Amino acid sequence: MTTKPNLDELFDRRTTLPDVIARERLAALVGLDEQKARLTKVLGLLINPVGLTQWAGKHHPKMNGLLKTILRRPPLVVMAGDVGSGKTELAETIGDAVARQEGIEITLFPLSLATRGQGRVGEMTQLISAAFDHAVDEASKLKASSGKARGGVILLVDEADALAQSRENTQMHHEDRAGVNAFIRGVDRLGNGSLPAAVIMCTNRLGALDPAVRRRAADILQFARPNDAQRRALLHGPLSELGFSAPQIEQLVGATGPNGKTPYGFTFSDLTQRLLPAIVLDAYPAQPATAARAMQIANSLLPTPPFQEKSL
Ligand SMILES: Nc1ncnc2c1ncn2[C@@H]1O[C@H](COP(=O)(O)OP(=O)(O)OP(=O)(O)O)[C@@H](O)[C@H]1O
Ligand SMILES: [Mg+2]
Repeated sequence: MTTKPNLDELFDRRTTLPDVIARERLAALVGLDEQKARLTKVLGLLINPVGLTQWAGKHHPKMNGLLKTILRRPPLVVMAGDVGSGKTELAETIGDAVARQEGIEITLFPLSLATRGQGRVGEMTQLISAAFDHAVDEASKLKASSGKARGGVILLVDEADALAQSRENTQMHHEDRAGVNAFIRGVDRLGNGSLPAAVIMCTNRLGALDPAVRRRAADILQFARPNDAQRRALLHGPLSELGFSAPQIEQLVGATGPNGKTPYGFTFSDLTQRLLPAIVLDAYPAQPATAARAMQIANSLLPTPPFQEKSL
């Protein structure tokens, strides 16, 4: 890559929020209320700090140094955890809640590193730097000289596993290290410029998260497989639509949890993208879906194995 990648090459699905579809996708995420609330608050503050300043003025007029400490935090949130647990879905849609809460427009710039940056040496670093350049440019246009920002920017760095790798790892390729450094530099650039922007990083590998990245995170949210209550919440709607009774649904909640066969249960995506479609497609087109057959299907499906933190 000799020339700098342009906006369309870098980000394939830029979206402006609020947006009806994002709102629906966000609402469809079950059992993540705590994460949603925490993220909306943290991102709202990072992108539009005026709210906190006003709150301080009202309740704690002497709060000055502390206010600065909070407002100077690097604008980074890390989402870490198991596969198919809603990280990407939440990262792509939470901006809708933030935009509505703050009453501003937010543009989401999603950069997935899984499909990118694995080519020539230097490519990952260049991608990261270019992504931050664009985020800085966009956010600079939106920054207000005083008061509330005119809009905000969320830079999503998804599938950042390679980047999460610790710089302390001696085996780490020089190029990966440069990528981590470019990322850290980018976060600091946004923060030092007090720009209305925040970075969300998603990774499966919290254990390998670089200490310098971890230190900068205003919040680290962890994602896990759904527990009984979360599986119940997710399955209840769709299975009721099929006419299953509460006890039948409860049986399926049990069958999709950890058991004698596997010590781990189904992921959120195992439920939404494999089990539920399998129940419907098994019955279609000849007969209606039944709870008995659904149980057989649940018992025959193997949950996706958890992401193994490779020991480095
Ligand atoms: N909490 C949830 N409620 C409802 N559906 C969910 C939830 N979490 C995940 N899903 C479903 O699983 C799919 C995959 O989720 P997502 O892509 O966000 O996972 P992820 O955590 O990014 O996984 P990976 O680490 O593999 O990238 C989503 O499109 C959604 O349909
Ligand atoms: Mg993902």
